[in-house]
Formats: sequence, C-alpha cells, structure tokens
Amino acid sequence: MTKPEQTGNAVKELVQQHWNDRATTFDDASHHGIHTDEQHERWSSILREWTGDEPLQVLDIGCGTGVLSLLLADLGHAVTGVDVAPQMLERARAKATRADRSIEFYRGDAEALAVTDDAVELVTARHLVWTLPNPEQAIAEWQRVVEPGGRILVIEGYWDHAEPWDEYEEIHDDLPMYDGRPPDELRAVLARHGLRKIEHEPLLDPVLWGREPHHEYYLMAGTVPR
Ligand SMILES: C[S@@+](CC[C@H](N)C(=O)[O-])C[C@H]1O[C@@H](n2cnc3c(N)ncnc32)[C@H](O)[C@@H]1O
Repeated sequence: MTKPEQTGNAVKELVQQHWNDRATTFDDASHHGIHTDEQHERWSSILREWTGDEPLQVLDIGCGTGVLSLLLADLGHAVTGVDVAPQMLERARAKATRADRSIEFYRGDAEALAVTDDAVELVTARHLVWTLPNPEQAIAEWQRVVEPGGRILVIEGYWDHAEPWDEYEEIHDDLPMYDGRPPDELRAVLARHGLRKIEHEPLLDPVLWGREPHHEYYLMAGTVPR
C-alpha cells in the first residue's frame, strides 16, 4: 500500500517534533557539539579561512543549538540564528548567554524567511538541506536574503541512512535530499540557482567530528551574483 504524501507543513511539523525531542542531547554527540579546545580551534580556523577577517552580517539557518552561530560570533561576526524547533533555539540562547555572546535566535522556516531582501552578507547552514521538503526553494530563498556579492556557505555530507529513524520513518520519501548529496551533485544544484565561484573543501579531519568521520562531509560556498 502506498502511503499518503505528506503536505509540506505536516512534514515540517514532524521535523520540528524530531528536533525538539533531541534538543537536550544533541550537543552530547561529538560530531554535533564542540567537546574540546582542539575541536573548537579546528572549526574556527576553517570558518576563518572561508569568512575572512572582516566582520560580516551572518544568518545561520537551521542553527539548531547554535554550534556554528557561536563559532562565527567568536570570530567577530554579527550572527542571527533561525530554526524551526523552539527547543533547539532555547538551548542555543542559553549557550550564547553562558558564552556572553550577543546572538539573536528566532523561530523561522528556512524555506520562507521573515527577512528582507539583501539583508545579510553571508548565509550559513550546516546539515540542513537533507531535512527540507523543498531544498531548492530554500536555496532560492537564501539567495534572496544575501546581498549581491555575498556568499552562501553550507556544510553538508553524503550519508546513506540504513533505516530512517523516529519521525523520519514517515516522511523520508518527502525529503528530496534525505541521505545528503555528494559534493558534485550539490554543486550542480547551486550552479543551477545561479551561484558563482562555487568552491568546496572536504571536511574529513577526525578532530572536527571528535571521531573518524562516518560520512563524506564537506563545506561548499558560492557567491550570489551582482
Ligand atoms: C541536523 S540539525 C543541525 C543543527 C545545526 N545546524 C548544527 O549543525 O549543529 C538540523 C536543524 O535544522 C532545523 N530545521 C529543520 N527544518 C527546518 C526548517 N524548515 N527551517 C528551519 N530550521 C529547520 C532543525 O530543527 C535542526 O535544528
């Protein structure tokens, strides 16, 4: 029997429920949270390399518990984090307060942002596209909010979930990039959306993930045309 197709909103509700339920333990995994000074330093140095030394207005989309938002704020960028799951955002706010970082975190949808055109210089998104029902709509939306000449930087991977878990059992067929994407495929999607100067770097250093990487992780960035 075929299962009924979920609407975008029903899919997002289940995604939100999944991440709300994981919020308190998300950072416990060393491939999610930052567990050592060495890990912090390794992420910082990669992000510094890609963002440069000038402070940027950054929107970290699908920010979760704020791992990337905090690293970027530590580098001096003015960061706003947006996520669909209130409990992930609660953790992010608590961590920013503890770290004495001024980061605004608010609830929003990566595919339809409450942000004006050209509002930021950089959009970041780590491990987000796989869990979106309309990832291509999201990429177009991220381009809308980045000023011309600004960049979109994603940290993604290609994994092969043996079995969908929890809420994802019901919805994985509705997520076109579930399982992630090999870098060449994601590059083609970004290029089709008009991004220029698309570059990528494999992220396979075990220090980044606190273990041998189980997947083909990478960072990819492209420039929004002027
Ligand atoms: C795998 S977690 C990654 C969190 C964070 N980017 C990180 O790397 O630590 C995916 C995050 O995307 C969020 N998310 C999923 N769908 C979203 C949507 N449509 N809009 C905004 N956030 C979304 C989830 O709530 C979750 O916090």
